[in-house]
Amino acid sequence: MKVDYATKIPNNVNLAEDRQLTRALESWQPKYLAWWNQLGPKDFANNEVFLRTAIDVGQEGWAHFDYVTMPEYRWGIFLAEPKPDRRISFGEHIGQPVWNEVPGEYRFDLRRLIAVQGDTEPASVEQQRHLGKTAPSLYDLRNLFQVNVEEGRHLWAMVYLLHRYFGKDGREEADALLERHSGDPDRPRLLGAFNEPTPDWLSFYLFTYFTDRDGKFQLHALTESAFDPLARTTQFMLKEEAHHMFVGATGVARVIQRTAELMKKYDTDDIRQYGGINLSIIQKYLNFHYSITLDLFGGDTSSNAANYYASGLKGRFHESERKDDHRLLGSTYQAEAIIDGNIGTIEVPTITALNQILQDDFIADCQNGVDRWNRILSESGIHTKLYLPHRGFNRQVGIFADYHVTPDGNICTKDEWELRKSEWLPTIDDRSFVSSLMVPVREPGKMASWLAPPASGIANRPIDFVYVKL
Ligand SMILES: [Fe+2]
Ligand SMILES: [Fe+2]
Repeated sequence: MKVDYATKIPNNVNLAEDRQLTRALESWQPKYLAWWNQLGPKDFANNEVFLRTAIDVGQEGWAHFDYVTMPEYRWGIFLAEPKPDRRISFGEHIGQPVWNEVPGEYRFDLRRLIAVQGDTEPASVEQQRHLGKTAPSLYDLRNLFQVNVEEGRHLWAMVYLLHRYFGKDGREEADALLERHSGDPDRPRLLGAFNEPTPDWLSFYLFTYFTDRDGKFQLHALTESAFDPLARTTQFMLKEEAHHMFVGATGVARVIQRTAELMKKYDTDDIRQYGGINLSIIQKYLNFHYSITLDLFGGDTSSNAANYYASGLKGRFHESERKDDHRLLGSTYQAEAIIDGNIGTIEVPTITALNQILQDDFIADCQNGVDRWNRILSESGIHTKLYLPHRGFNRQVGIFADYHVTPDGNICTKDEWELRKSEWLPTIDDRSFVSSLMVPVREPGKMASWLAPPASGIANRPIDFVYVKL
């Protein structure tokens, strides 16, 4: 399935054959570009960046790397190849052929799912728009821009579905995706974490590690959808998403590597005066990004999630590989609950706990990265360990929202929370210290004081390659 680049909107969906749809998307395109120019990466519009672009959707060699200025990036519509005779793999329609059009009874729910996913994509571009100014290296600057253009492309992916399958409602929804803005008091983005600023690069790495990983799990759940165009779109998005999480995982690892080096060299935990970031500050940033990302999974028990599952709209992570009836009738799950003021579990119908189950899978995946980061510390002879706080810590959504939970999982009073939260979450001083380190480094191959170099460059280029021409 080669991508057609001869058209105004690159695509592998035979857009040229549908004149009405082409016209609709071509009239959305200038609005998108206006949004990019206004709220996408600040400055750098005229700089050439070494970026990858999709040329194919197959397993091998889908990406092409070259210099391009960001406004000239060819955002397009790429769906993974259809699986022949694909059948619905869960819910009440299990075993039936997948849908290539939207069933009337699921129109509202599907549009909502697509709009919520679509809303997160431009949101993160908006959140990250000032980071170019303070990039710790050209390599990192390029990675930031790669993430940004691909989030823009993910918006295109969702807008295609809205335009192609949802008529006038879908076109209005697509326009609204450009009208809400991250942190806008009047028209904010739909989900909390996407209205928080990403003011510095430590936040950026933790955002791409945790919040893009929420994206991974949401997209995985949608790749199982009975609505085949959604399944195929999200499959290809996941290929791009992997790089975003790589940026986060290796970014945090490089910060820790540098921290460990400075701790050893100066034989102290407090390395701020040597231009490094203390492990205690990294832990607080981790606590913040992890907890606000957990909120993205929605209510711990949810009738919406149950309906999406029963209808076949949104499955579980790796649904097809699970060994059960894929309908979850009569199945139960031990869900987190607050019982007499203590954290415990209660038995609930599994189908109502799907948000929490997706969150379980997410947490296990997050832990892998934390283990790798801790290996860097132990290999440097440092005994401090980073950890994921308890899932109830600092939550605004779900059963823990009405409680104050410490990182080690105890419910505490509001007074104790207020007294101790500066130990657990970044303080104004922590943030201003981190921000003081954010000075741009633009000489090829050089890194900021607080960051180790990456293990290798991008697409077999050396680390000192000119990833962005300034
Ligand atoms: Fe995305
Ligand atoms: Fe992403």
